[in-house]
Amino acid sequence: MSSKAEEFDLLVREVFAPCYPVVANEIIEKTGISNGLCLDLGCGNGYLGLAIADATNMEVCLLDNDAEMLSICQRNITARQSNERVRTQLGDVHQIPLPEQSVQLVVSRGSVFFWEDPIQAFREIYRVLSPKGIACIGGGFGTVEIKQQIDRQMEQRDSGWKEHLRERIGPGCTEKYPPILSEAGIDNFKIDHGPTGLWIIFGRS
Ligand SMILES: C[S@@+](CC[C@H](N)C(=O)[O-])C[C@H]1O[C@@H](n2cnc3c(N)ncnc32)[C@H](O)[C@@H]1O
Repeated sequence: MSSKAEEFDLLVREVFAPCYPVVANEIIEKTGISNGLCLDLGCGNGYLGLAIADATNMEVCLLDNDAEMLSICQRNITARQSNERVRTQLGDVHQIPLPEQSVQLVVSRGSVFFWEDPIQAFREIYRVLSPKGIACIGGGFGTVEIKQQIDRQMEQRDSGWKEHLRERIGPGCTEKYPPILSEAGIDNFKIDHGPTGLWIIFGRS
């Protein structure tokens, strides 16, 4: 097992853990979707998708292009006895290995910032969305209190934390996405950008 994936899991469990159930509920509330298949893109160790599985009856596919992250996902799935509804999928957001219009809810937290070709990735997300499906892509912490708590801990561990946040979800980041979405053929979208994060929300209808 890669120490990088294990180190990331430890960091997530020690620092980021409180945000996942809150972000999951926020997404379920915003989209109104709680049935069908949920795809968590760039799932890391799977905590957002697992929180969505806990809060709904959805089947969840945890997709990442890092096999070691997925081994930890599998461990987390087994620990939570979620095997019946949650599975892992090795894959790349630029070529999602799922049929078109097969996913009711696409979620992705903290991964879009690393995609090499976001236009192609958004095209792929749009392709797999079901006719009434919704995608919620971005990065966020749930509440201001949770974000402040995470910021305090991360600033002690990582001197570049504030700068990472500014580049990814800071003021001015809203403007990055409309041209990318338009190029991907997605005209009907909303960018929800506030003190707790930045989310790009769109559907097919
Ligand atoms: C910062 S982590 C976020 C993990 C998780 N979503 C979370 O919120 O804890 C970013 C994840 O995106 C994944 N990733 C980056 N580029 C990807 C790609 N092209 N296809 C699939 N996964 C990707 C990485 O392997 C990593 O697990």
